[in-house]
Amino acid sequence: MKLSRYIYIVILNLCINLLSSVCHADDGYRLWLRYDKIDDPAILSQYKNQVRSFFFYDASPTITVAKKELSDGLKGLFGQVVPESNAANNGSLLIRKNQPIPFSHIDFQTYGKEAFTIYTMKVDGKNVTTISANTDIGILYGVFHFLRLMQTRQSIQNLAIISAPKIQNRLLNHWDNLTRHVERGYAGISIFNWHTLPGYIDQRYIDYARANASIGINGTVVTNVNANALILTKEYLEKFKALADVFRPYGIKLYLTARFSAPIELGKLKTADPLDTTVRNWWKEKINEIYQYIPDFGGFLVKANSEGQPGPQNYGRTHADGANMLAEAVAPHGGIVMWRAFVYSNETPEDRVKQAYSEFKPLDGKFEKNVLVQVKNGPLDFQPREPFSPLFGAMPQTPLMMEFQITQEYLGQGTNLVYEAPLFKEVLDADTYQHGPGSTVKKVIDGTLDNYSITGMAGVSNIGNDRNWTGHLFGQSNWYAFGRLAWDHDLSASAIADEWIKESFPNNPKLIATIKQIMLSSRETVVNYMTPLGLHHIMGTGHHYGPAPWVNNAGRADWNPVYYHKADSFGIGFERSSRGSNALEQYAPEVQKQYEDSNTCPEKYLLWFHHVSWNHKMKSGRTLWDELCHSYYAGVDSVRAMQQQWNSLKPFIDEERFRHVQMLLNVQLSEAIWWRNACLLYFQTFSGKPIPAQYEKPDHTLAYYQALRFPYAPGTGN
Ligand code: GCU
Repeated sequence: MKLSRYIYIVILNLCINLLSSVCHADDGYRLWLRYDKIDDPAILSQYKNQVRSFFFYDASPTITVAKKELSDGLKGLFGQVVPESNAANNGSLLIRKNQPIPFSHIDFQTYGKEAFTIYTMKVDGKNVTTISANTDIGILYGVFHFLRLMQTRQSIQNLAIISAPKIQNRLLNHWDNLTRHVERGYAGISIFNWHTLPGYIDQRYIDYARANASIGINGTVVTNVNANALILTKEYLEKFKALADVFRPYGIKLYLTARFSAPIELGKLKTADPLDTTVRNWWKEKINEIYQYIPDFGGFLVKANSEGQPGPQNYGRTHADGANMLAEAVAPHGGIVMWRAFVYSNETPEDRVKQAYSEFKPLDGKFEKNVLVQVKNGPLDFQPREPFSPLFGAMPQTPLMMEFQITQEYLGQGTNLVYEAPLFKEVLDADTYQHGPGSTVKKVIDGTLDNYSITGMAGVSNIGNDRNWTGHLFGQSNWYAFGRLAWDHDLSASAIADEWIKESFPNNPKLIATIKQIMLSSRETVVNYMTPLGLHHIMGTGHHYGPAPWVNNAGRADWNPVYYHKADSFGIGFERSSRGSNALEQYAPEVQKQYEDSNTCPEKYLLWFHHVSWNHKMKSGRTLWDELCHSYYAGVDSVRAMQQQWNSLKPFIDEERFRHVQMLLNVQLSEAIWWRNACLLYFQTFSGKPIPAQYEKPDHTLAYYQALRFPYAPGTGN
């Protein structure tokens, strides 16, 4: 071959490669705000007719970002720039604040400062669309909603939308350390680069704020609950101020975690006793200083007297004493304190799942008005399935806020596809029976049940500096679902999945239906191959990666899996009825009634509430042992089904994201098999029963699984 011809071919190949990577590569950075051009000509022309121009009547930092989002969004979706014009013509989109009711159609006083409306209406005889609110941030939410309508290909004709959040404080909790290590993080290191802040503002901070605002998240705690006192030093406050300045136009307040012993560590005081005047003054001064940097600082999230963290009990004081001290100091500035109820004591031999209730229930009504008690969804610790925490429904005089975990500490970490909305919904829709039937958890936390004047919902973030933000592409759907549910807890898991898929992938009916199927079954799948039938806390110690139901030597009894499953030659499960720890007594009588009898207890909670014989007859007719085998094997089979479903989507998805998910599903399958084999082989040493012959045999011995070690598994403590 002649040299020139050879060079020509090389160059041609390079160009082809470059082109195909430009056309097809998609690293997922854009999240659900992709705004790709609408490829259906009929829909496109309909939308274009409805939006021929747009106009914002005001100007402010928030309106500036709303305008940019709208014009970028329209340009992407339409493939052309939509002009600004204040004339009311057919097809004008008019965006206005503080309009009288005939224009906005709602009384914003009733709906709060974040509400918006979107209406199709006649102005001067012309068909226009209006987005109205009584604050700039309401406008921004309205703009994002309007864009979502088009991204999800809904009609934008004859609109009559009124939307207001059901929960006031909708927050992400970052467990990000000052080292940038993210506790329980599986998506790289922290997006917050403390080293280059405050001078360097990464575009990520802006895109993070955009993404959050687009789903209604209005607060972020940027530091870990296992807090470092240095967070409160001038050096770091300057960095937080820079972030708060970026977030402000997007309606996002910045919050910090407070280390309870900071007065000693930073202030050199002898004590951190919350009733000591010097301590109280130290916090007041510190908090005044914070507000000088960040005038709209949101307040504190506090983990105290929990897992080694200092707290008021070190001084013989209560959680209320501790929370109230901080609450008093932030109150003049409009701040709040979110005091976590995730506590369990070393000394108390009480069933660990009872302890948060035992400590907090007696404090009902003893907290200042600007304190929320933040309660994890279940009484233990974000397991694949737990019943709702009995604190919901037990503290009518104390605003309780929900804490969900978006990051997948116990749900397969960075490698498993698990859509969490069904888990979130299961808890939100659970009935506490606090005031009779219909006293659902969501009505507790949105304040309607007990007239809380302040409400909140937090999600432990799954965000890191991986290019696609969440490590696993489908982790994005969990961030998305959390925000959407915090705004409106009545949305269904299916409706939210539908939105996210349409916003994240090409608009193809087969693709949408298939991904939705994968997502909606994924939570049940992970429960099956990890902790079926109410099992819980049988993961590896410390890093929490993989199965380790045999562990019996952790630092304290209730860190051991054996404490929770209690397998013996008779059977398996934790007896929490009156015949056992009586954790059930913490629930309303109606709830107790559902769970107290092992013959009628819903099987998904059976081993959570009961120690049951291996021969116990299940609804399927199988024995408990056979049912356990069935569940574990079904879980693995479902992962195989997910793989097949995903593989069928190859023609519809860009190569990069397709391969990304495909490879992770392979990893998920091997991990599911690992969970299944390790758990069944171990439990078999107690049941003495065979794994039914129709199932594939475990390919390793129990000893093999027990010998596995993961010294560098991600996400551990510091
Ligand atoms: C879990 C998790 C810890 C975390 C703790 C908490 O135990 O493993 O990393 O600190 O929850 O919620 O405080």
